[in-house]
Amino acid sequence: MKHAIVFGGTGMLAGATKWLINNADHISVIGRNKHRLEQLYPGHDNSDLRLVALDYKDNEALSHFLRKTIQTYGPIDLIVSWIHSIASDAIPIILDELTHQKRPWRFFHIKGSSDDLPSILGEYTVPWNCLYRDVQLGFKIEEDVSRWLTHEEISNGVISAIHYDKKQTIVGTLYPWSTRP
Ligand SMILES: NC(=O)c1ccc[n+]([C@@H]2O[C@H](COP(=O)([O-])OP(=O)(O)OC[C@H]3O[C@@H](n4cnc5c(N)ncnc54)[C@H](OP(=O)(O)O)[C@@H]3O)[C@@H](O)[C@H]2O)c1
Repeated sequence: MKHAIVFGGTGMLAGATKWLINNADHISVIGRNKHRLEQLYPGHDNSDLRLVALDYKDNEALSHFLRKTIQTYGPIDLIVSWIHSIASDAIPIILDELTHQKRPWRFFHIKGSSDDLPSILGEYTVPWNCLYRDVQLGFKIEEDVSRWLTHEEISNGVISAIHYDKKQTIVGTLYPWSTRP
């Protein structure tokens, strides 16, 4: 992976982001909180890692960031997107900004919601050059008791999806949906 971007890469995806930092030539990690970003890699002086404090609800800032990073570091190979649905423009902007890229790129779309199964299962229409990879976050059932996934389980699921380049990954289970915690 030459050029990667992780949206929402602190929090539950921190483990997957750290793995990507070690496996991508150049990576940008997006979140709003600078301190949380810096905790991913304290004291780093790695010029191939950019910790970008950006609100993905800010459409102009998002477009500007994407154009600038492509201009400076070349075509994007991989995007991991943990973008909340309230930012309804963010994913369309990402797809649009990359439409003209000649090289195909992989889009790992992380989807999880405690009350909206259709949004987890929903399909996405993407441009020709986008290799869509669906990562659905479910829950676990252990000894008849259900629970949500841990951060480690979520990050490991995302790492596995990227490593094996799976078109669809379900972390945990989604069924029976009524038995979720
Ligand atoms: N199926 C499951 O088990 C499941 C599924 C989903 C979530 N969860 C759980 O729910 C918890 C909460 O999830 P969460 O998504 O709120 O927390 P999270 O994954 O811990 O954090 C969300 C990530 O997105 C970033 N972010 C949020 N809004 C942003 C914005 N407008 N612009 C740029 N970056 C933004 C956050 O950084 P900043 O805050 O710095 O911006 C952070 O990196 C998780 O910790 C996880 O355990 C479980």
